[in-house]
Amino acid sequence: MIKRTHTCGDLSKKNLNEKISLNGWISKSRDLGGIIFIDLKDRYGVTQIIFNEQTNKKAFDKVKPLGLQDVIGISGEVVARPNEAINKDLPTGEIDVEVDAIEVYNEADPMPFDVNDRYSTMEENRLKYRYLDLRTSEMQENLKVRHEATLSVRNFLSAENFLEIETPILMKSTPEGARDFLVPSRIHKGKFYALPQSPQTYKQLLMVSGLDKYFQIVKCFRDEDFRSDRQPEFTQIDIECSFVSQEDIITLGTNLIRHIWKEVLNVNLPNEFKVISYKDAMNLYGSDKPDLRFDMLLEDFNDFIDESDFNVFKTTIEKGGIVKAIVCPNGGNYSRKVIDELTVFVKEYHHAKGLAFMKCFDGKLEGGISKFFNKNLQCKIINNLKVMNDDIIFLIGDEEKITLEALGALRLNLANREKLIKKDWKPLWVVDFPLFDWNKEKKRWESLHHPFTSPNPDDIHLLDKSPGEIRSWGYDIVMNGYELGGGSIRIHDSDMQAKIFELLGLSKPELIEKFGFLIDAFKYGAPPHGGMAFGLDRIVMLLVESNQIRDVIAFPKTTSAMSLMDLSPSNVDKEQLSELGIKLDK
Ligand code: AMO
Repeated sequence: MIKRTHTCGDLSKKNLNEKISLNGWISKSRDLGGIIFIDLKDRYGVTQIIFNEQTNKKAFDKVKPLGLQDVIGISGEVVARPNEAINKDLPTGEIDVEVDAIEVYNEADPMPFDVNDRYSTMEENRLKYRYLDLRTSEMQENLKVRHEATLSVRNFLSAENFLEIETPILMKSTPEGARDFLVPSRIHKGKFYALPQSPQTYKQLLMVSGLDKYFQIVKCFRDEDFRSDRQPEFTQIDIECSFVSQEDIITLGTNLIRHIWKEVLNVNLPNEFKVISYKDAMNLYGSDKPDLRFDMLLEDFNDFIDESDFNVFKTTIEKGGIVKAIVCPNGGNYSRKVIDELTVFVKEYHHAKGLAFMKCFDGKLEGGISKFFNKNLQCKIINNLKVMNDDIIFLIGDEEKITLEALGALRLNLANREKLIKKDWKPLWVVDFPLFDWNKEKKRWESLHHPFTSPNPDDIHLLDKSPGEIRSWGYDIVMNGYELGGGSIRIHDSDMQAKIFELLGLSKPELIEKFGFLIDAFKYGAPPHGGMAFGLDRIVMLLVESNQIRDVIAFPKTTSAMSLMDLSPSNVDKEQLSELGIKLDK
């Protein structure tokens, strides 16, 4: 093998006349008759190599039959490019290498897609040949950013005195709200481990052990519906500390994100991030992960309805619902077709009963439900909501949750349609989440974060009377409309923990079977503690300005949880199943 002295991104005019050697893949080849130019590429860059039939026939004859993506080694001399051939955009663009010798390591079959143009093929094909996708400059850059982000996290937390401690992958299931991936035990037939949805219980136990500042960059597994920002296995930056308040974690999390953005992007995020309550986030943005890069806030509309003649919405309000509106700039020109599409969007995806609208022209409201609002009322609406000519007002009247969520989704849809989203970084914390959420179908309370989250002590008196009104000490960090992380101050009192489990409908025997170990541990000196977990994949996805989590994971799954490269999940042998005591239902 010709051992490389440099990488393909190293050489410049400083190396003129040096004898060097390089290894890499042929990424381009131009045959000009007696001269062949080759772009030799590795993950560091590209260097142009010249093969001249007259000066080195042996090397020329060897390179002539080679094709794209063949792997070779060359040695040669660095020479200056003629002025007209200089490429200032390329670090190696002022030099060429005149080849002395070439060795061919591996000749590649024709590529299933053009590795120089990642988007020349469908994603399905790229996932099938993921190792080739990872050879593209885009994916190599993404993985580099991922490495830099991970490194900056380790450096930051180590400097803050945190210890990275590994926790088991085969464990007892932890309730994080998703379905578990189960692993059958061969030795204990009929019993199962679960893959961690997160190391939540372990990190709390580490606090009981006195390891007061823990972190781990850790794989988590959740069998849930996948979206562009979700994978069945993903990576968390998991953190837990003892003797901390919510403010301490918010400061730590803010500083960690600031550190990553500075280290990786050289971007200075503000010293403090905005903090808003869950209630305000829902009321103003219709989302608990609001995108603050544009305004278009949700406006209260109940009072205007009271004064109007629009009985449909009046009835909605009488039944306890709410009416809210958003004003979309320049929506005055929306055709019936566009409005119908938006109506389908809020109905089908967000369960709203319908979408009402009014357009503003010449200082008056027209179309849609405008006829139910007299002239004075129209003026009031236009002034209060700061409606401009050619704007459109969209309105939804429904149950509170549906109104807020549907308008929140419409807000995002319209912002994308109208290109209102500026390139910017808008981090924020959302606090004061409700502790519980009522599950209508199952008719029981569920934890909004997870059952280890502490209620806000100011609301503990509501525990028996009205659990739905209790605020938690839980918090989420959001950036540009993505939930980057979440956590809480935990319950550290075994009686309180048992009480919360009881409220969640866990019977005593179930409680002991599932969480006895944790409740027991809290009896042996549990410090007040809290923490959070960031989604590393989502952080990297934002850093590389992608909206697809698969772009920052080396070997991701599809939305149907498949690996198209190795075709997992796959069948297993009968013997393997019988060893585990498993019979498949056919
Ligand atoms: P949570 O469930 O909010 O909290 O998860 C923390 C963060 O992990 C990321 N995340 C995901 N990323 C990709 N694919 C997924 N399927 C996925 N699910 C979650 C998100 C999310 O904000 N144990 C608690 C944390 C704690 O309380 O300390 C937990 O796991 O960015």
